[in-house]
Amino acid sequence: MIRSRSENPRISRSRAAAILLGAGLCSVIAGEGASAQPASHGMVVTADSLASAAGLDLLRGGGNAIDAAVAAGFALAVTYPEAGNIGGGGFMVIRCADGRTTMIDFRETAPGAARRDMYLDEKGVPVSQRSLLGPLAAGVPGTVAGLLYALERYGTKGREEVLREALRLAGDGFPVSGRLAASLRSEWRELALFASTKKIFARESAPLEEGDTLRQPDLALTLREVIRRGKDGFYQGAVAEKIVAEMRRGGGIIDAEDLSEYRPVERAPLRGSYRGCEIVTASPPSSGGTLLIEILNMMEFVDLRSCGWNSYRAIHVLASACQRAFADRMAYLGDPDFVSIPELISKEYAVRRWKGWDSTRMVPSDLVHPGDIPRESKETTHYCTADRWGNVVSVSFTLNGMFGCRTIVEGGGFFLNNEMDDFTVKPGARNLYGLVGGEPNAIEPGKRMLSSMAPTIVLKGGVPFMALGARGGSRIPTTTAQIISNVIDFGMDIQEAVDVPRVHDQWVPDTLLYEKGGLPAGVRRDLESMGYHLEEVPWTARAQSLVYDARERTYRGGPDRREGGVALGY
Ligand code: DON
Repeated sequence: MIRSRSENPRISRSRAAAILLGAGLCSVIAGEGASAQPASHGMVVTADSLASAAGLDLLRGGGNAIDAAVAAGFALAVTYPEAGNIGGGGFMVIRCADGRTTMIDFRETAPGAARRDMYLDEKGVPVSQRSLLGPLAAGVPGTVAGLLYALERYGTKGREEVLREALRLAGDGFPVSGRLAASLRSEWRELALFASTKKIFARESAPLEEGDTLRQPDLALTLREVIRRGKDGFYQGAVAEKIVAEMRRGGGIIDAEDLSEYRPVERAPLRGSYRGCEIVTASPPSSGGTLLIEILNMMEFVDLRSCGWNSYRAIHVLASACQRAFADRMAYLGDPDFVSIPELISKEYAVRRWKGWDSTRMVPSDLVHPGDIPRESKETTHYCTADRWGNVVSVSFTLNGMFGCRTIVEGGGFFLNNEMDDFTVKPGARNLYGLVGGEPNAIEPGKRMLSSMAPTIVLKGGVPFMALGARGGSRIPTTTAQIISNVIDFGMDIQEAVDVPRVHDQWVPDTLLYEKGGLPAGVRRDLESMGYHLEEVPWTARAQSLVYDARERTYRGGPDRREGGVALGY
């Protein structure tokens, strides 16, 4: 899979991206973790320089933001195997230049043989790692169907052109980034349990290192099938057979029928508003958009600007809103095709939900209950693209944990997700992200597991203003809310809004997380005296964003330096 490092002098990834884009053209190329200069024709912001370059290539070739998003998505499946994927699923929110908005739901589904107690032992206790490690943890993948659906309905280019760069990167290889090398090192113990995974990512039994060339010929073969036969190239025929064979080998339950029956669903995105800006975001089966709008609706009750950024008052408002929204998540949210979801995002509901808020003290989680509803009836990656016509795309897709269930489909060359852990394994039990599971999210065959992903587009005066989203499980909607507030309430430019430290509260556990060094001692003291338990973490979530400046008619990127995000525009 790899050439030894002596044969293959290391080249930096920003240089690789520069080569890919061709010398002498006017693209703005940024190094890892850097943002692009303002760009008037279009922009791609992803967590990986090669994937950003693949998307930008499409824009420069006359493609629209959807073409670029699909190209970047398939490229991420090659260059960002921790999270970029064809073995997982996600959500794409699109705002078309003509004003239409839509969402493509390509979330994984529970296999037909799935049962609500499949991750419990005979005594009804969750079995450690069963919903996380190996093929039994995988939901039926949705990415290939979802990205191709987007391309056919909203793109302008053919599969061959859009997947060309992903195919080249898989076949020819590319230099392993520092990020990927570190991820492989940290997860190696479990990755090495699977021979099919080890075969691709090891050199002499040790994980690949930064600068090694990663070639993925099996993945190239799979991509070639997708180019040739579209969705059927993945969900039927040789690739599908390889997935089913992997299931048999590793004790999984996805069968040929589950694969051939998988369909993405086009749904209306959720719409809300924040201080006069419109919010267009993911609808269920993601909880991310619902949480985001609920949180923003409650934050609107307080003049945050006068509280001051990162003040104990502003943080108390945010944390109180988050606690109430996350309590609702557990009680009410699940796949809308299986459960009926009450109206949680209205301004009237927010008024009721905020009633009794005490500006002087924190309320412990056991006293924060889900709202009264009138009885009427550890891996994701986010990226966004925009083009010169005003089409904007915001995509989050995931394998769930880093490298999903750690299993590469033998001969297929791609990781399978471990998204089944996002279901309620048992009511009250916590998942990988510490989220407490509720009944509406119980496992049922064909059902989509609840997500927290929140790909979002913000409109101002009816015109796209921001596109953003994040990785980080439960921390995604709280991060997205803070970036929106940083821009709208505190007037930060997009890079600063992404860069500044963030906090996170998800109701249970009773802990307010803050990023390393993010809270001054005085603010910590004030919060503690209000009743908060604080915990410092290296990072909460990682976001990728862009903004449009309507006056200057330019896009600016806000990649997250926490994960070496790269914005490329021209
Ligand atoms: O869909 C969800 O909410 C989770 N599977 C997302 C996981 C995630 O963001 C991991 N990123 N670090």
